[in-house]
Amino acid sequence: MTKTQTDATAQPKSSTTGEGSLEIRDSRTGKTYTVPITDGTIRALDLRAIKAGDDDFGMMTYDPAFMNTASCRSAITFIDGDKGILRYRGYPIEQLAEKATFLEVAFLLRNGELPDREEYDKWVHDITFHTYVHENVRKFLEGFRYDAHPMSMLCSSVAALSSFYPTANDIFNPQERHISMIRLLAKVPTLAAFSYRHVKGLPFVYPDNDLSYTENMLAMVARMTEPKYQAHPVMARALEVLFILHADHEQNCSTSAVRGVGSSQVDPFSAVAAGIAALFGPLHGGANEQVLHMIKDIGDKKNIPAFIEGVKGGKGQKLMGFGHRVYKSYDPRAKIVKKLAYEVFEVTGMDRDLEIALELERIALEDEYFVSRKLYPNVDFYTGLIYRAMGFPTEYFTVLFAIARTAGWLAQWEEMLLDKEQKISRPRQIFTGHDERPYRSRLL
Ligand code: ACO
Repeated sequence: MTKTQTDATAQPKSSTTGEGSLEIRDSRTGKTYTVPITDGTIRALDLRAIKAGDDDFGMMTYDPAFMNTASCRSAITFIDGDKGILRYRGYPIEQLAEKATFLEVAFLLRNGELPDREEYDKWVHDITFHTYVHENVRKFLEGFRYDAHPMSMLCSSVAALSSFYPTANDIFNPQERHISMIRLLAKVPTLAAFSYRHVKGLPFVYPDNDLSYTENMLAMVARMTEPKYQAHPVMARALEVLFILHADHEQNCSTSAVRGVGSSQVDPFSAVAAGIAALFGPLHGGANEQVLHMIKDIGDKKNIPAFIEGVKGGKGQKLMGFGHRVYKSYDPRAKIVKKLAYEVFEVTGMDRDLEIALELERIALEDEYFVSRKLYPNVDFYTGLIYRAMGFPTEYFTVLFAIARTAGWLAQWEEMLLDKEQKISRPRQIFTGHDERPYRSRLL
């Protein structure tokens, strides 16, 4: 909206985020409209009443990439990007990362409260005893090429699960929703681990129900001839912390994909597969993979200044792992991950690339280009280094992210379904193409 269209005398009644109204004067007609403000937001649909004439469709908002549009009301995750705050259901991420388990967090995200002992034991038991996948899923995975990207395998096999559980499309039945969520949380690590073993040419390792969620994940990935795989406790806890940090992040690209696809009332396996597809992209979950490629290309600390100059020169190269749509200060998850990196490196030995990463961060945080654009390290800047130290290949990092984010996707999916205001997602467009024209073949 331009200045001339805004009534400068309109004053908000209360606080900047509270109730009030917005007075809008349409210079085309001279009419003034009052639009209610709730939670610092106006409803885009209220603008439809603003019309230049009787046959006018009504005012729309134009917001490519949803830079300033709330698509839902949500009680799950709170982010204050300027202050670097992230909370799940009110609990600070720092406290959850220090004290909780991933499955406790998954329960919290879904149910709104932390589980008591009885609820937790049942939740963990149910997830643990649904970790096996149908043998045909295993055969399906064997059909992939030896060099298939594990995210493609995960995405396709999660989508395929919907054909194994056809009643999952009864999404307004609470029992069906519940068992589908249990199945997804339980089976995504199994599919992820099978994808890893397939690419490595190793036999699949079946889930071990005696182990915790992350120990089992590590066992399915790394077990060889030993009858029982004992994950290093530092590694198992590191994976748990990383899963907690990645569990949800409000309306990001993949969560919006899950909500958008889920709004068609498709089953949750299909909706989560859409989330995995979105997460695959290098600007989203693929960024940690890109960070390592970038560090490899830089090669040595002495090449960093030239690299930074290249980024600033706008030749299309970005400093991967830096910048965030929401955080305009240090990503709170990045702080935790940086500390975690040192704990893991104490066990595995120092990674030379950590030095390059630290130096990159130091230089970027002092550079006017990054400072003025409020570009800080995001969660992906250090996660890749940890995953690599734990022995995971680069192309597998996003798969680990997807396992964690399944918890958030499911909570957001259910919240969307139960939200009476939600309907099938269907954005508007501003049509910029041809006006009507007669067909004349050009196939002469
Ligand atoms: N390196 C260099 N410049 C950057 C970077 C970066 N990593 N990120 C943003 N900028 C610049 C842009 O070029 C732009 O500059 P300009 O104003 O001169 O044109 C300005 O900063 C604003 O950037 P936008 O692209 O408008 O920011 P947006 O919110 O659209 O993008 C994003 C956010 C996609 C995360 C971006 O910062 C980026 O591409 N970062 C690198 C990829 C990455 O690390 N992604 C992981 C995100 S976290 C996650 O998904 C878990």
